[in-house]
Amino acid sequence: MARRRQLYEGKAKILFEGPEPGTLVQYFKDDATAGNGAKKGTITGKGVLNNRISEYLMTRLAEIGIPTHFIRRLNMREQLIREVEIIPLEVVVRNVAAGSLATRLGITEGQRLPRSIIEYYYKNDQLNDPMVAEEHITCFGWAATQDLDDMVALTLRVNDFLCGLFLGVGITLVDFKLEFGRLWENEEMRIVLADEISPDNCRLWDTKTGEKMDKDRFRRDLGKVEEGYQEVARRLGILPEAGPRDMSGPEVMQ
Ligand SMILES: Nc1ncnc2c1ncn2[C@@H]1O[C@H](COP(=O)(O)OP(=O)(O)O)[C@@H](O)[C@H]1O
Ligand SMILES: [Mg+2]
Repeated sequence: MARRRQLYEGKAKILFEGPEPGTLVQYFKDDATAGNGAKKGTITGKGVLNNRISEYLMTRLAEIGIPTHFIRRLNMREQLIREVEIIPLEVVVRNVAAGSLATRLGITEGQRLPRSIIEYYYKNDQLNDPMVAEEHITCFGWAATQDLDDMVALTLRVNDFLCGLFLGVGITLVDFKLEFGRLWENEEMRIVLADEISPDNCRLWDTKTGEKMDKDRFRRDLGKVEEGYQEVARRLGILPEAGPRDMSGPEVMQ
């Protein structure tokens, strides 16, 4: 496959120019960061697993009518996506108290919230992705009120669906982060789900034992990080057939 022009290298993925206008190739790396790059490492096979997991979840979501950027998986580490204008917000949904919510507000981690909470963070590495309110978002023009309404409606549907999907395989969806983008088609703009949905940006706990199966294993040095990601893929029924050897890295594709 001819090498494509690289457009952006982020912390976990690389974006390449796609084969057709309006498309991109999203390449999933094994690189892992935490605390906005303060902690760096690699999780062997993570890129392969996240590519599969995100493909699987975006496909299931598309089936229930959620518009997404996902077109198709190309190979072990790459997927073809629609290019969108990313809205510079991280939309976080919380079902159970964990992470920064627990720390900031002194709430015991693991406590189920009386109802799901949506939070917004301004996507800006230099500012450490600060939490913002709807007022900031509309005031500074990051998204219009209508865009935000669409994002919230989509986010709640995604949360309902994914909570059920994960519960079915014995996993509690504690919280997760979504990114959205604007997609123009014949002068019309639609908000679509973009980026990825994977154990990099979801907290996933075993429903019975509470064991963590997500990036917190890396963030908090809990060990068995690869195994956590593999277990999520295994339960979803999407471990690459040839097993973990398939996941050793980029030598499988040039
Ligand atoms: N469909 C898309 N079109 C354009 N940009 C996208 C799309 N999906 C995701 N992105 C952006 O591509 C980047 C993905 O790489 P990542 O390693 O996650 O970067 P970052 O370190 O900025 O989080 C993110 O900045 C994300 O907002
Ligand atoms: Mg990212």
